[in-house]
Amino acid sequence: MSVKPVTITITGAGGQIGYALLFRIASGAMLGAETPVRLHLLEIPQGVRAAEGAALELQDAAFPLLHGVEVFDDPASAFQGTEIAMLVGARPRTAGMERGDLLAANGGIFGPQGAAINAGAADGIRVVVVGNPANTNALIAASHAPDVPADRFTALTRLDHNRALGQLAATLGAQVGSLRDVTIWGNHSATQFPDVSHATIDGESVPALLAARLGGVDTAKEWLVDTFIPRVAKRGAEIIEVRGSSSVASAASAAIDHVRDWVHGTENGWTSAAVVSDGSYGVPEGLVSSFPVESVDGAWRIVQGLEVDAFAEHRIAASVAELVEEREAVRALGLI
Ligand code: NAD
Ligand code: LMR
Repeated sequence: MSVKPVTITITGAGGQIGYALLFRIASGAMLGAETPVRLHLLEIPQGVRAAEGAALELQDAAFPLLHGVEVFDDPASAFQGTEIAMLVGARPRTAGMERGDLLAANGGIFGPQGAAINAGAADGIRVVVVGNPANTNALIAASHAPDVPADRFTALTRLDHNRALGQLAATLGAQVGSLRDVTIWGNHSATQFPDVSHATIDGESVPALLAARLGGVDTAKEWLVDTFIPRVAKRGAEIIEVRGSSSVASAASAAIDHVRDWVHGTENGWTSAAVVSDGSYGVPEGLVSSFPVESVDGAWRIVQGLEVDAFAEHRIAASVAELVEEREAVRALGLI
């Protein structure tokens, strides 16, 4: 039986993350070995040649699942009929740029892309924003797509989630695959709160394992506050310092994990994704904030009923306050 190919639009496809994403998507790593794909690569005119080069290489790689690649420099055509939109292309902050300038520049990208998704994407469209500031860019895109259910717009915090798994596994001498129920709360920024309070390894509590490993409950708490949380939250900056440019392959891999789980469902506990808040855990409705989420029947659901202690409440509130500020800034600029 032949399966209809899924149309996927990747913006910024001529850039670094785009290059790391395209070949894995075409190989079946995102939607599975049974699902053929058609790729729409969207670039700005200066990036079109790089995207065309990637398209030539995709042809040369002869992926059986790849049923077509087209390169566009116009959002209306690129999002026509698309079922999955991975919004990677964004305006990076450059020297002398104020925060407001960055939000305004990205508003000029994500507003029109949201409108193009609204006008032409398939009914079941799923959007993940990777380009920074990812949460607020997703908010801008969603606000320009009034006919698309808000829960179809998400931003990537799976990279932060995966970074947290990597740090815990290394510290506890465990395999990442045995870890469950870590959460990233809030913004994809240094204010995010990586939370291990509910995490387990093979059924054992991670806080208890950390206390046993690090010499007591107090030492484990200190490690969480002074080492783990800042290491995860500032890992992007660490990668830039060590590599000389921002994370690429790990970001692409996380974007693939996010879409794969959204489409195929989560197993073995929850993951983290920035989704439009329904007011859960005191996060103001409408903000795109990271939560513990499960994917059920093709939709993200915020995990409900978790106990949030005073420390966690304070950390979540700090990151959410930053998201509120960003929302006020883009509102003041007329971007939402
Ligand atoms: P890059 O500069 O290599 O590529 C970005 C590409 O986007 C460029 O080719 C550029 O021409 C294109 N582009 C710019 N404006 C566009 C538009 N309006 N439409 C289509 N394409 C457009 O950057 P990169 O390393 O690929 O990173 C992309 C973004 O992802 C950056 O904003 C980066 O900060 C962000 N990022 C996010 C995460 C995350 O976890 N959320 C992780 C890593 C990087
Ligand atoms: C990352 O998390 O690696 C990216 O968002 C890049 C950055 O500026 O931190």
